[in-house]
Amino acid sequence: MAARRPLIAGNWKMYKTSAEAADFARRFVPLVSGVADRDIMIAPAFTALETVAGILKATNVALGAQNLFWESEGAFTAEISPKMLAAAGCRYVIIGHSERRQLFGETDDTVNRRVRAALPAGLIPVMCVGETEKERDAGQTLSVLDKQVRNGLKNLVANELGTLVIAYEPVWAIGTGKTATKEQAQAAHQFIRSLVSNLFPAELAVAMRILYGGSVKPENISELMAMDDIDGALVGGASLNPESFGKIVCY
Ligand code: PGA
Repeated sequence: MAARRPLIAGNWKMYKTSAEAADFARRFVPLVSGVADRDIMIAPAFTALETVAGILKATNVALGAQNLFWESEGAFTAEISPKMLAAAGCRYVIIGHSERRQLFGETDDTVNRRVRAALPAGLIPVMCVGETEKERDAGQTLSVLDKQVRNGLKNLVANELGTLVIAYEPVWAIGTGKTATKEQAQAAHQFIRSLVSNLFPAELAVAMRILYGGSVKPENISELMAMDDIDGALVGGASLNPESFGKIVCY
């Protein structure tokens, strides 16, 4: 794991107005300014991106968005293009979060389109995958991950894969307080890495960062990060407070 630079990312979902996001950013930046050995990202709502970008400029905290559309411009009411995100100061974009899949009709195919649009715009996609509780109970975890990763990365060639990050987020662990055990998470991460090494040159799979997400808190981050194939975290609830997210970043 040592060779991969950890990434600790906050997904704010539909929380925080622009003013609240700015307040967070001003309080959070000094808490993590001394951190040099890992990457840090926060993903506010679209409406707060530019304000937060201004505060994060020249700091070690990067900005991310929570979604994008795959076309670069056009008559697509309410959609946001990769170019718009890059111009707003985003470095990362979360794609295919389970809430998008479950509530907003996102499919493996639309995830794939978004991933393929993000990369040429210079955005780092954080592609989310994960099984539901029902799928886990039915013993389908690995087959679900196989399908989501394979389809999500379809038609990407090795030199496009670049900086892509995968986030393993078991749906049953999101916002529920139920974290996957470190062994469950490690097994899923190892599976994803070996699948990626079957699809792309092995060195890309070795270099790829795989984040764990689902009820990550200051209390459980260290044991998760100690696992070989866990390279960071995608944090929802616990990223909304600067002190708690600061503790997670500084695990
Ligand atoms: P949670 O959310 O940390 O609140 O469980 C994680 C996520 O949805 O990315």
